[in-house]
Amino acid sequence: MVLVSGSGSNLQALLDAVAEQGESYGARVVAVGADRTSAGGLERAERAGVPTFVCRVRDHAHRAAWDRALTEATAAYAPDLVISAGFMKIVGEEFLARFGGRIVNTHPALLPSFPGAHGVRDALAYGAKVTGCTVHFVDDGVDTGPVIAQRAVEVLEEDYADEGAALHERIKEVERGLLVDVVGLLARYGYSIEGRKVRLGHE
Ligand code: GRF
Repeated sequence: MVLVSGSGSNLQALLDAVAEQGESYGARVVAVGADRTSAGGLERAERAGVPTFVCRVRDHAHRAAWDRALTEATAAYAPDLVISAGFMKIVGEEFLARFGGRIVNTHPALLPSFPGAHGVRDALAYGAKVTGCTVHFVDDGVDTGPVIAQRAVEVLEEDYADEGAALHERIKEVERGLLVDVVGLLARYGYSIEGRKVRLGHE
């Protein structure tokens, strides 16, 4: 199950991996959820024949009600893993209680550096020479959960010219490959989380 807010290129990479590798990939996308109707990821899902749902904060009286609705909509597909692929909302207590330890997020920076919604811009503003992407499990903080894998991307002088747009594109290219690799490995081999350490494979 994949949650999106944006263009959904990370989702597309997962859909492509499933289409190209079939059963040997180890996972398939059972549904796609979004927090806005404009999320490009919804169309990508529909094109791939994957069911979708939209769960908007503004359609609910308060945040906890939204969280409950998101939890129920997700639970209806009984996913083994929930992939937050550019989902720009912090999930709430109920969602975490239900899916904790099974929610994977992708972030466009090398955590714990530059968490939050502006990981690319913040890395540039800091003057970092190397940044990258992190795939990690979600806990109750913002981008604080156990790291599964990271890949580095060099910051170039010209990245300052367009406020990080080209840098984000280079990060996303790497990020898509990393997410596809991580989801496949978790699905095929299983995993355990011991404190902050993620171990691949069953005991
Ligand atoms: C990714 O870089 C993700 O890490 C960030 O937003 C971007 C989403 O891209 N939070 P897309 O919607 O998958 O194309």
